Amino acid sequence: MITEILSKENFTIEDIIKLLNSSKDEQTELFEKSAEIKKKYLGNYVYLRGLIEFSNVCIKNCYYCGIRKDNSKVSRYNISDNEILEAAKYAYENNYGSLVLQSGEVQNRVFSDRIEKLVKQIKSLSDNKLGITLSCGEQSKETYLQWFNAGAHRYLLRIETANKELYKKLHPIDDFHDWDKRLDCLKDLKEIGYQTGTGIMVGLPFQTIDDLANDLIFMKNMDIDMCGMGPYIEHFDTPLYQFSKDLMTLKQRLNLTLKMIAILRILMKDINIVATTALQAIDKIGREKAIRIGANILMPNITPISFRDKYLLYENKPCINENSSDCKNCIDARMKIAGNTIEYGKWGDSLHFQNSIKM
Ligand code: 5AD
Ligand code: SF4
Ligand code: FES
Repeated sequence: MITEILSKENFTIEDIIKLLNSSKDEQTELFEKSAEIKKKYLGNYVYLRGLIEFSNVCIKNCYYCGIRKDNSKVSRYNISDNEILEAAKYAYENNYGSLVLQSGEVQNRVFSDRIEKLVKQIKSLSDNKLGITLSCGEQSKETYLQWFNAGAHRYLLRIETANKELYKKLHPIDDFHDWDKRLDCLKDLKEIGYQTGTGIMVGLPFQTIDDLANDLIFMKNMDIDMCGMGPYIEHFDTPLYQFSKDLMTLKQRLNLTLKMIAILRILMKDINIVATTALQAIDKIGREKAIRIGANILMPNITPISFRDKYLLYENKPCINENSSDCKNCIDARMKIAGNTIEYGKWGDSLHFQNSIKM
């Protein structure tokens, strides 16, 4: 039955829902198709982004997140500029090609100027060779522009869910946590010229299969360049934890995330899709599974080890006690097993973005 859908040029929302509901047997067919598309359009290659989680200070209170402002159990850190630059040097010297600077959300002048300076310093220490992705939440268009002009060229901002009503259930209802504002941020990023990435969580309380199908359509309509989707993993010290009993099992969430990745790969053949760390928190080879069926980006953690146990957005986060070189050796072996080759020292820009510039 899904054979017919998979042979189509374009999917309707009903098609996507059927694919998301596909049985174990049918799912194999879906994954074969998405793997074939990845191979045809992108080759079996994986690009790296060394991830530096440089601060867990956050002004927001997302109900699902372990480092939300009101979680007083978190010990807050802010890695020094020197340590960040050391980590960047590590990424450069080990041929990662790109890095991601990620943090909780902070909106002020000192913060924007600091990031601007760091971006410039990273560009200069790497002879302009390291690609820089930022993931520092919602900011004014001026700030996004300031960072772009400093040399950042990709930005990740997950919409979390394309359903505005669901978004309201996952966040406090105030000006600070406004779905429309988040959407405007994505539009600003695109207008400025960033390769723009978004994403959602899979298996959230109150989320339906229709919501997930709409998330995929949202990404297609937004014409995004990159996507990071991961399973929702409950964190004990968060307000959303109280709804844990109604959730799908972790395995089901993982499986559904894989289906989402496969369908997105078929819908958007040339975008970059991340095999997220949250997949690995559920299944030791969760990221490898994602790479096999369509993801092409891996974000090994290169945060200095002493801070890693403090950036816990969800429980069971992997690589807390591994240092950067452990992770490097580990992923090398893992990607080989997944039948993919890591392209060291390359930016691995979204082909989708490059193709849209050419047009
Ligand atoms: N489970 C899974 N992902 C989470 N994130 C935040 N909290 C959780 C959680 N409990 C994701 C959000 C955010 C990204 C940085 O991490 O999607 O955008
Ligand atoms: Fe802050 Fe991001 Fe966590 Fe929301 S998801 S509380 S913005 S770190
Ligand atoms: Fe960190 Fe495997 S990627 S130990």
